[in-house]
Amino acid sequence: MKITFYGHASLGIQIGDVNILVDPFITGNPKTLHMAIDDLNADYILVTHAHQDHILDVEAIAKRTGAIIISNYEIVTHFGNLGLEGHPMNHGGQWSFDFGTVKYVNAIHTSSFPDGSYGGQPGGFIIEGEHKNIYIAGDTALTFDMKLIPMQTKLDLAILPIGDNFTMGINDAILASDFVECDKILGYHFDTFGYIEINHEEAKRKFFEKDKDLMLLNIGEFIEL
Ligand code: NI
Ligand code: MN
Repeated sequence: MKITFYGHASLGIQIGDVNILVDPFITGNPKTLHMAIDDLNADYILVTHAHQDHILDVEAIAKRTGAIIISNYEIVTHFGNLGLEGHPMNHGGQWSFDFGTVKYVNAIHTSSFPDGSYGGQPGGFIIEGEHKNIYIAGDTALTFDMKLIPMQTKLDLAILPIGDNFTMGINDAILASDFVECDKILGYHFDTFGYIEINHEEAKRKFFEKDKDLMLLNIGEFIEL
């Protein structure tokens, strides 16, 4: 499993020869203006919630690639009305795709579309594929619901928001990694705009002091599990 960071909460996940994009927000991110979304491959696009900084490039990429959008019912219906293919889910539901399984799990956040219309409830994803299991938390506060995850899934990586203000910050993300019982963390949702700027060295040190490994990738950088 290969995981590439495309800035903010945008990820590319390659499982075998299947390409998955998560929350593509590239053309509106001042840090990724050099990236061309036409270069991104996608068989599936996972969307955690309807906020602009998670859905901005979904329509353009899905139109070009024919990718299947996996998200909550309301978001999939929204894109379905634009002629795009999707697979609707809701909290607690799991489904087997050709690359592995996806479970839509709780997140504490909001989920309106940019025009204010209802975007369902926000979520995160557990992805199991190629004998590796990852948790993509989405935008969320720290929540006890995270403790349910390791009761069923042994995680190899937890992808957690760390930018604070709109989501968990560093200290809560450290507790979240305890809750999900995974000490290997990829941080995301930081530095994109002023409200969520963080001190990288301090963040890494705080995780390190708890025997945890916080990875912060540059845009376009990837890790392999
Ligand atoms: Ni959000
Ligand atoms: Mn966000």
